[in-house]
Amino acid sequence: MIDLPPLLYQRLKKLCDDTSLSILQQERAALTARYHGHGDVRMHTRAQRLSYLATRMPSTYAALRSVLGFVPDMDKITSLLDLGAGPGTVIWALKGLAPLQKATLVEQDAELLSLAKELWKEDDALAIIHQKENLLSYQGAEPADLVVLSYVWAELDPARRFEVLARGYACAARYLIMVEPGTPSHAKGLLEARDFLLQKGAHMVAPCPHAAPCPLRAPDWCHFNVPVKREALHRQVKDVTHPFEFEKYSYLVVSPQETALPHGRLVRPPLKRSGHIILDACEAEGALVRRTISKKQKALYHDYKKKEWGDAL
Ligand SMILES: C[S@@+](CC[C@H](N)C(=O)[O-])C[C@H]1O[C@@H](n2cnc3c(N)ncnc32)[C@H](O)[C@@H]1O
Repeated sequence: MIDLPPLLYQRLKKLCDDTSLSILQQERAALTARYHGHGDVRMHTRAQRLSYLATRMPSTYAALRSVLGFVPDMDKITSLLDLGAGPGTVIWALKGLAPLQKATLVEQDAELLSLAKELWKEDDALAIIHQKENLLSYQGAEPADLVVLSYVWAELDPARRFEVLARGYACAARYLIMVEPGTPSHAKGLLEARDFLLQKGAHMVAPCPHAAPCPLRAPDWCHFNVPVKREALHRQVKDVTHPFEFEKYSYLVVSPQETALPHGRLVRPPLKRSGHIILDACEAEGALVRRTISKKQKALYHDYKKKEWGDAL
């Protein structure tokens, strides 16, 4: 279960104190309807932005934290270029995982950048550049160890987004990470980005343990799942009582350098039965392989029974 860092939650809650709960609830319903209707998802008022932060930041944070857990050598990441940074979720997700010294947050919405500043105040060790820019025209980035497009790919004009990706990849010294909601259409968008990046010479890091075509066929699609704790503010704005929810996400990590790939990755939840477990893994040869491991295969069973959906094998 992933929860927002207490400091971030306290600050978020304080920011929301001056807006009535019923307005935050209305704005959340309106934004959800726009997302589902593929309408204009830009935010225009402070209440809309706060409502978005209260209900979506815990989930995007949780998805990012999970993805970052699959990336090797995070202890070598000292610089970040966050494209479509919103409220700065990525710098929070990197906290404690990477010795970040410099972060450039590029975002078209000046008010969201201000909220990012209000949320992240005191950390002197991290120099942050806030750049109010449209990614479609943004040319000015310097190389960074890590380049991230988190929950932004589907918001970019499909006719122009590969230009943004090419510029982002050109800046990635170690990794480029993309995270999207875990729906079939967002996963398809990530596969298009994957093809484009592989053609540019990028090497896969995760989730695929290979650079072959994706073996998953509709109605299946590549996605993962993380439980997200709902703190009081989250529950109130969503008008729900359950203390947690699941965030489905899809993601992609590539690198300009070749990295050691795992043998496979679990692309579905393991089926844990009384005498055996069934594992569906995307494997290094580019195939989807189902394995049944019996309790009698003691060493293998011991290793595999701890594995969860999304883990490398
Ligand atoms: C769903 S939010 C995600 C924010 C953040 N990356 C996260 O994961 O929490 C998408 C963000 O991308 C920004 N965005 C979308 N299109 C953009 C563009 N053309 N230029 C700059 N920012 C853009 C939006 O303003 C919004 O803040």
